[in-house]
Amino acid sequence: MAQTGKDIQKAKQLLIGGEPVAIPTETVYGLAANAFNAQAVAKIFEAKNRPAFDPLIVHTHSLESVYDFVTEIHPQLLKLANVFWPGPLTLLLPKKNKIPDLTTSGLNRVGVRVPSHPLTLQLLQQLAFPLAAPSANPFGYISPTTAAHVEKQLGDKIPYILDGGNCEVGLESTIVGEENGEIIIYRLGGLSVDAIENIIGSVSIQLNQSSNPKAPGQLKSHYAPKKPVLTGNVEELYHSHSHLKIGFIIFGESAIDLKGNLVKNLSSTQNYHEAAANLFCFLRELDESDVDIIICAILPGMDLGLAINDRLRRAAG
Ligand code: TXA
Ligand code: MG
Repeated sequence: MAQTGKDIQKAKQLLIGGEPVAIPTETVYGLAANAFNAQAVAKIFEAKNRPAFDPLIVHTHSLESVYDFVTEIHPQLLKLANVFWPGPLTLLLPKKNKIPDLTTSGLNRVGVRVPSHPLTLQLLQQLAFPLAAPSANPFGYISPTTAAHVEKQLGDKIPYILDGGNCEVGLESTIVGEENGEIIIYRLGGLSVDAIENIIGSVSIQLNQSSNPKAPGQLKSHYAPKKPVLTGNVEELYHSHSHLKIGFIIFGESAIDLKGNLVKNLSSTQNYHEAAANLFCFLRELDESDVDIIICAILPGMDLGLAINDRLRRAAG
């Protein structure tokens, strides 16, 4: 079974020895290994039961250190890195050969980010290599936002979980890259589109939903609880499923009386950041409760509401 603790030295020794370690980030917990070592990276795929066509994000401690393993950073992307790192932004950048093909699933670009969690930043500063880390959940399930979530699902597959408390952002990073001079958002996440456009002007959004996506975080059935999830108009969904035991996820005050039901309010004051931080916890709680189905409100399509709705729709499959 995995040990859980705040021992950076222990995490460091395991990582140097080529073992995977779960690490906290401000977005979600990651399952980390030496990004330069294909054998270490292979252990991540194994523990997660992750298909090899799904590339990993590489975490490092500073913008300067990125040049060690990427060939260049497009000027617009560099602006974003300067403003938003450390933070919930992943950039797709042309990789050097130092990054093994397994890390990027054979793609020429590597996803890179500087996470803002203090424990993980300290760990990264003490290592001579960056850390490849996907979210620390079994492939296809909800991302973990506490050490306990990781323990529950991967505890028997990994030696150590570095415990950094609850993830502050609660949604995975926003993934951005450049193709033919155009800046593209490939995955909505913890950094809003507005925040990005405020810095570099309008960008395009390409959330591929095919079965062979460029970024499998784009897979339609990703982030799925085991219970059926329905999204849309809560009142209508309530009435058409009133014969079932329902768990609700709402945002702000409900227009109808849901008394007697299990209700989780993402944010009673309609704060998008609070809602993002609660989302995965609430999905898990309802998935583990005795409800038959989970009914979720759709949020206004602004700020982090866009990324939250994306996750809810994918949870609904
Ligand atoms: O916030 C996050 O991004 C978290 C924390 C741990 O950093 N990580 C995370 O990793 O969400 P993961 O593996 O669950 O999702 C990463 C997504 C995947 O859908 C993957 O396909 C995409 O990023 N991705 C990574 N590298 C890529 C690349 N070179 N080209 C296209 N997509 C890439
Ligand atoms: Mg993931």
